Amino acid sequence: MRANPPDIGPIARLVNPLIGLCVLVLGLIGLTAWTLAVAPSGELIPSATLQPVIVPSGEWRAPDFSTIPVDLSGDEIRYGRELIAHTSVYLGPHGKVEALSNGMNCQNCHLDAGTRPFGNNFSAVASTYPKFRARSGKVETMEERVNNCFERSLNGKPLPPGGREMKAIVAYMKWIGKEVPAGKTPVGAGITELQYLDNPADPGKGKALYDTKCFTCHGKKGEGELAAGGNEWKYPPLWGAGSYTQGAGLFRLSRFAGYVKGGMPFGATSTKPQLTDEEAWHLAAYVNSMHRPSLDISHDWPDISQKPMDHPFGPFADGFDEKQHKYGPFRPIQDFAGKRSGQKKL
Ligand code: HEC
Ligand code: HEC
Repeated sequence: MRANPPDIGPIARLVNPLIGLCVLVLGLIGLTAWTLAVAPSGELIPSATLQPVIVPSGEWRAPDFSTIPVDLSGDEIRYGRELIAHTSVYLGPHGKVEALSNGMNCQNCHLDAGTRPFGNNFSAVASTYPKFRARSGKVETMEERVNNCFERSLNGKPLPPGGREMKAIVAYMKWIGKEVPAGKTPVGAGITELQYLDNPADPGKGKALYDTKCFTCHGKKGEGELAAGGNEWKYPPLWGAGSYTQGAGLFRLSRFAGYVKGGMPFGATSTKPQLTDEEAWHLAAYVNSMHRPSLDISHDWPDISQKPMDHPFGPFADGFDEKQHKYGPFRPIQDFAGKRSGQKKL
């Protein structure tokens, strides 16, 4: 025996389809609003490791790691990436290949193996090298630039230019930058440029910030913490013997402040910063007032008029002293040197 469907009555027979229609219309309105909210400012970009993320339109994204070719050339690129991410395991004090650097990884300062937008990425390396650099006063190859970081940031020795490791690092950088046209620097390359402060950056204010926002990982004395196994850092040191040298890019306040604004405390990104520009400058002043390895940089900047505003060692071609070149305020220095404003970068 089959039960008859209950009679829902004439009014319900009229209203039910109307409810259905309303739900459909509301759904369409919602979808349109969502599209409008996303479309003007960005697009959805799928990535191999992350859920799709909304990015400001035009900002550079690294190629998908899963598209590295499965052949010998791909093996070289993957080895290059491994060397960037775990430099110390191969080339640190107990390195499998050779002991030639201080135990930091390139990735400690070039986030996500140099692929993070505004995380000091390598997007513009293949497209712009070889190029003239005022710091050395000569045209530098990609290999020479890589060795700058080995010697200055990793307080180490240079890699042989024709060796397996250097070739792999260069292959990886070329792969990362393969979609960037020659000569171009894409949006999101390198480090965030911050607003200048009107006053000098203040190490005292920086210490107070450090002691609340940074010490949990980097340690009260900036000493960092080794990862299990002791072959690389879980949290790299920010000053002291194991840290970057006074000749490193991060020793310039603008580079440090821009880097931490885009990536620190760990988990922050350029679209989700956790520090104000002012906080980032004070933190840079504090960390860079602490002791760290020195380096003979007497041959840097053969033309002293080309020194960037925040290069903290004289002599200078302008009338500003070392203290102002270290802590600012930088605007008067930039105004004075207005004509060299394009040369802020290293
Ligand atoms: C202590 C931090 C630090 C470490 C570690 C580090 N770098 Fe760097 N690197 C920097 C900074 C800062 C810059 C300059 C960025 C700027 O001027 O905007 C830079 C720039 C570069 C550039 C030039 C980028 C460009 O677009 O011109 C290359 C190439 C590079 N690093 C490679 C490496 C490699 C390879 C390693 C590991 C051997 C490494 N770096 C380790 C801080 C670091
Ligand atoms: C949750 C842990 C954590 C916190 C908090 C944190 N960091 Fe880091 N920091 C890291 C890690 C991890 C790295 C290395 C990133 C990598 O290798 O991917 C790093 C790298 C760095 C580096 C570059 C490498 C070096 O040692 O020179 C600087 C500079 C830095 N942090 C500054 C800061 C500052 C300033 C703060 C506070 C605003 C901060 N960090 C807070 C985890 C942290």
